[in-house]
Amino acid sequence: MKRILVLLTIIAFIQITLIAQVKNPVYKDKNAAVELRIKDLVSKMNLDEKILQLNQYTAGQNTNINNIGEAMKSIPAGIGSLIYFGADPEYRNAIQKKAIEESRLGIPILFGFDVIHGFRTVYPISLAQACSWNPALVTEAAAVAAKEANLSGVDWTFSPMIDVARDARWGRVAEGYGEDPYTNAVFGVATVKGYQGKNLSDPYSIAACLKHYVGYGESEGGRDYHYSDISMQSLWETYLPPYEACVKAGAATLMSSFNDISGTPGSANPYTLTEVLKKQWKHDGFVVSDWDAIQQLIAQGVAADRKEAGYKAFMAGVEMDMTDNIYFQNLKDLIAEKKIPMAKIDDAVSRVLRVKFRLGLFDQPYTTVIDESARYLQPESKAIAQKLAAESMVLLKNNSKTLPLTASVKQIALIGPMVSNKVNLIGAWAAHGNEKDVESIAEGLEKEFGSDAKINTAKGCDFDGSDESGFAEAVSLGKTSDIILVCLGEKSEWSGENASRSTIALPVIQEKLVQELKKTGKPIVLILSNGRPLELVRLEPLADAIVEIWQPGVAGGSALSGILSGRINPSGKLSITFPLTTGQIPIYYNMRQSARPTSGKYQDISTEPLYWLGHGLSYTTFDYGTVKLSANTIKKAEKLTVEVEVTNSGNLTGTETVLWYINDPACTISRPMKELKYFDKKEIAAGAKNTFKFEINPMRDLSYTDATGKRFLETGEYFVIVNGQKVKFTISE
Ligand code: NOJ
Repeated sequence: MKRILVLLTIIAFIQITLIAQVKNPVYKDKNAAVELRIKDLVSKMNLDEKILQLNQYTAGQNTNINNIGEAMKSIPAGIGSLIYFGADPEYRNAIQKKAIEESRLGIPILFGFDVIHGFRTVYPISLAQACSWNPALVTEAAAVAAKEANLSGVDWTFSPMIDVARDARWGRVAEGYGEDPYTNAVFGVATVKGYQGKNLSDPYSIAACLKHYVGYGESEGGRDYHYSDISMQSLWETYLPPYEACVKAGAATLMSSFNDISGTPGSANPYTLTEVLKKQWKHDGFVVSDWDAIQQLIAQGVAADRKEAGYKAFMAGVEMDMTDNIYFQNLKDLIAEKKIPMAKIDDAVSRVLRVKFRLGLFDQPYTTVIDESARYLQPESKAIAQKLAAESMVLLKNNSKTLPLTASVKQIALIGPMVSNKVNLIGAWAAHGNEKDVESIAEGLEKEFGSDAKINTAKGCDFDGSDESGFAEAVSLGKTSDIILVCLGEKSEWSGENASRSTIALPVIQEKLVQELKKTGKPIVLILSNGRPLELVRLEPLADAIVEIWQPGVAGGSALSGILSGRINPSGKLSITFPLTTGQIPIYYNMRQSARPTSGKYQDISTEPLYWLGHGLSYTTFDYGTVKLSANTIKKAEKLTVEVEVTNSGNLTGTETVLWYINDPACTISRPMKELKYFDKKEIAAGAKNTFKFEINPMRDLSYTDATGKRFLETGEYFVIVNGQKVKFTISE
């Protein structure tokens, strides 16, 4: 009898637990460990539900002409993700409600969107952000972007782009952090931290997506979507390092690229997607294809039809199909045909769910609805925009202290197509940026100078075309002014996706305008707003000063005005080299030494670019002392401290960024002439000194990878290079 009672109690207990589990399954228990929740949920999903999780459709229609797509008429409740072009949290919540209440298991949808350099408070483009050399500030900007996006219904941004780019003809140089792997790594990590916060589930955190994995910046001839020929050596030492750094920093997802890596497209490449990313780096989030990238495997000649394209992408390690509908249509058959194992589907689904669980979507699937006025353009967000815009601007030239403008300047001629233009200041890929939020250059100057100087504006000419009818007015204004500020540049759509240019020079009409203005004999300041380095070979000699303002975002006008008036002392330095002419491309600071360093030069032009990465002036002057080393020889496992004292020898407080490079002159694999390994930025008061230090960690800073990614550290001579000083040291066993 006692035994029967015990048995009955056990049965009752099991039944109660089972009922509780059905009512309250583990995957819905927010206190359960994420991995247990994933396991529980995957065990309850049928194949159709699993496959839907691996697809991304669109909610609404894209405004990006390169990726219009079909507007979804009915969104399946069980879809994995949506590209969500809206900014209306109630709309998002309505779609989410359907997913939670109408799908069998109530799995939330992941809402993704391209938030590249701000959501509504638009910051400078990424290329410009890197010219600030201020990763902490970039983190703050990304955190604001995340908050504005999150409060508008976005969980996931397709950013940062960390494609090293050395060909300015490629429109997408605007979206990354320039030509250097280390810079892309540092600013990529800074941006990931801003988006994801300390924890993905924190309020306002959104998931980052590193793109475009990998090597997209190498597009041949700067032509977008084009073949790229990447050796394994350059894959490992140039293109992969920013990804490795950002994966280690916890980036939740990656996007597979359009280009090829040694003949295998990035979206069907098992080596980069599985071997490197998942096995070596142990990334446990997921990879989404770029828009149409799976379908494009057919055009790229590696798949005969959509089914084969889906098979190749999935088996290579792309977990989510962005908009192609290929996974939805083909995965089931591929499983039935035993081409794709069920375990691989479960792994892919688990990866997608992991990101959703980590974001806290199962526990809080809806967006908090607050008024737009509390969501966007908050004073502290605009202050960050102002600071980042100012720190991103680069004073390229300043002969005879043309800038800042002195009190004797009473009449300013403000000429050029960019003078009152707002939309181009917001720049390419500006999310929900609105030109009404932007301060134009003319508005900024009016505010800055008030009654101190009269600003006389004229457009002079358009961005392109051949209409010179505005030249006469511009020249006459120039003649009666003390100085001419010429605001030139690129339309925002000239950079970004599918915006390749055969020349990086500005259209002839803009150059002609400056030639005409030069005839007035007045000092000329060029103000350039563009998304790529420009060919300035004809313009630079005509200018007394040049300020590169990039596409600076909402606060561009006021940041520039502060620089012109001297309220702000410029501190930006280039994150990408400005070639002298387009024909020099590719030209970048970390090229390898030529076999005959003194010959093999161009016969018609200089072989030097106009400005190398790192170039940028200040209104004050900085003198560098002699570089000091803590030792001349260290062992591989030891550390070496290098320091240099920098004196502000001018009359103004200024901010200097010290860029530390290394060089390995004799190595098994030929090394670049110099490689950036560290940078540090500090404000120095007029007349004061500050010591900048770089602690060389040999394994981190002096080792190199071979073509398989294996890291080596060799003994022998090295150099540390800072501001033109090159100092030798030795590494011993
Ligand atoms: C295509 C672009 O290459 C990619 O950068 C972007 O994130 C997707 N479209 C989604 O809009």
